Amino acid sequence: MSNGKITIDGQVLDIVPGKTVIQIANDAGIGVQHYCYHPGLSIAGNCRICQVEVEGWDRPQISCKLQPSDGMVVHTQSEFAKDAREGTMEMLLVNHPLDCPICDQAGECHLQDYSYEVGQGAASSPTAKTNLPKNVPFGSKIVYDAERCIKCTLCVRFCEEVTETNELAMAGRSDHEIVIMTSQGEFETPYSMNIIDLCPVGALTSRDFRFKSRLWFMDFAESVCTGCARGCNVMTGGRDGSFLRMEPRENQAVNKWWMCDAGRLGYKAANVASRLEAPLVRNADGALVQVNWERAISAAGAALKGAPGDVLIDGGATLEEMALANDLAAAMGGKAKYAAATGEGDDFLVVAEKGANAAGAELLGLPRAKKASAASVVIVERGQHITASMRDKSGAVVVFAMDGEHVPDSAQVVFPLPSSAERNGLLVNCDGIVQAISSNTAIGPNNLADPIELIEDILGELDDGYDWRGRDGVLASIRALPAFAKVDFPAGYEAAGVGAGS
Ligand code: SF4
Ligand code: SF4
Ligand code: FES
Repeated sequence: MSNGKITIDGQVLDIVPGKTVIQIANDAGIGVQHYCYHPGLSIAGNCRICQVEVEGWDRPQISCKLQPSDGMVVHTQSEFAKDAREGTMEMLLVNHPLDCPICDQAGECHLQDYSYEVGQGAASSPTAKTNLPKNVPFGSKIVYDAERCIKCTLCVRFCEEVTETNELAMAGRSDHEIVIMTSQGEFETPYSMNIIDLCPVGALTSRDFRFKSRLWFMDFAESVCTGCARGCNVMTGGRDGSFLRMEPRENQAVNKWWMCDAGRLGYKAANVASRLEAPLVRNADGALVQVNWERAISAAGAALKGAPGDVLIDGGATLEEMALANDLAAAMGGKAKYAAATGEGDDFLVVAEKGANAAGAELLGLPRAKKASAASVVIVERGQHITASMRDKSGAVVVFAMDGEHVPDSAQVVFPLPSSAERNGLLVNCDGIVQAISSNTAIGPNNLADPIELIEDILGELDDGYDWRGRDGVLASIRALPAFAKVDFPAGYEAAGVGAGS
């Protein structure tokens, strides 16, 4: 049964029960400016920037709260609607410091964006701006600037409705209204940093990221957090080889709009001083020395011919890497096994399984290594999965590692492993959803070889008849496995070139 029709900017659209005008417009690709509206939170309707014209109504209406009715005709771009929004912008800018040149939000500030859009770059009020608290710590990770705050209450509603921890509240009145912490000290929720993403202006900034880089000097890539098996969807941000930040990317089936603070800050492992940047081979004096890739591959083949055995792989490695680890173990007459840590989980996003691809390893039929045992090859990304004891007791002669601290003394050949933000591949999350990590070329040392290519090259050293398949060929063999018959792979993964083995 039809619920009636609404016309927005000339488009005749179905009325969907429970959806307000801004939601129907957004679903149809009609963008309506908003500050205090967020699809994951209750509707406050306090900023008034979403005003639209409704035919037959004398006053502009806030579209985030406006219930549609059959036959309603809405204009978002009429002079009447634009005038209303410009008036709102002028009010918002009366007390805003307009310190964009030194504000960390510049480049991703909705107030700045809309100022440019409506041509309202300054407030015309002759009165002095209100002075309010600046540089206020909200726990150890967030800094609040009350002068930039537009009182949208998104941050307060997040703590009330999503985490239900109520750390924030509005206090004061009129132009002296500010956000306050309801208790001293730390945020209790491990999800506190989501309020930084929610804040439409530069009132909440990350102590970790602030002043590190202007946005327009950075490169971003869509990827997945590998901090636990939830696999929250993220954007990675990097510049000049450094991994500078990670922020959540919407995926309603996995993490909605959010991620945990520990996962967000987990990017730092890619920036440690002990990152490996070139292949190493142990010389006659027992020292690991830098060599070129060809020499390291041939040394790895020789070392494994002399000491064949199992392969121990990180529970955060990709499906493609795990499948090839299996082939490498088989070529040596051994077995591949994976290791993954378990820890605390909660009832929101964080799960106890920390191996980001533990489910993928199980689908591939790899057994889980629970204690130290011998292995000829160790592929370690996160030290907590393949622990120091496992690494040391493995006696591995060939090691793939991101961090020099994770290389056991037994290693004869060491290959530098790109971080999860520098590799392409697939992970299966705790709910069986297959997702892609993708490389951000602004992150990590230059010219690190793809582990897929390296493992295939080592297989070529072990078997003269080895037939190189490339990433797409490896993926095709994974798809052909009975365990993956009913598994959905990300649409367009290969077509998009991510699986091109580059
Ligand atoms: S700090 Fe940001 S999110 Fe919170 S009320 Fe102010 S503007 Fe809104
Ligand atoms: S819940 Fe897990 S996957 Fe999500 S951000 Fe946290 S550590 Fe990363
Ligand atoms: S977005 Fe509608 S009133 Fe703020």
